[in-house]
Amino acid sequence: MKWNLLPLIVLLASCVPSKGDLVYTLDGKPRVSPVQTEAVSFATIQTEILTKCTECHKWAKTEDGIKKFIVPGNPEASELFQSVRSGEMPEDAPPLTTKELELLRGYINSLVAAP
Ligand code: HEC
Repeated sequence: MKWNLLPLIVLLASCVPSKGDLVYTLDGKPRVSPVQTEAVSFATIQTEILTKCTECHKWAKTEDGIKKFIVPGNPEASELFQSVRSGEMPEDAPPLTTKELELLRGYINSLVAAP
């Protein structure tokens, strides 16, 4: 290959959005790159996350309950996701870890494929 093309290739590669990057859609609204949509089950977020919520929120015990605070496929617009990402929830407890936030994001995204 022509080595003088290398900087160009590196530059182009750095423009490809990677997992979880903010991307801009045609309507101009920022969204998180859908690349990281992995199916995450309700059972998983129940064990990993919702057990930290149920002492105060009865609605956090069921999938129907939490769906009231979720816009399927759109974590950014979901009150449930916003509340934990901002660190506001769980109240009086340490904020969720990045891994837990990613699980929740994956769950909300997978609700589009399987409503
Ligand atoms: C120690 C009690 C407590 C815990 C634990 C807790 N919350 Fe809350 N949460 C509250 C209170 C109190 C409010 C109402 C806050 C307000 O209206 O200012 C609230 C409000 C909310 C709301 C807004 C909708 C509503 O019901 O008013 C969401 C969404 C939410 N919490 C999510 C969560 C999630 C997700 C968790 C677990 C990761 C969690 N909370 C853990 C006390 C708690």
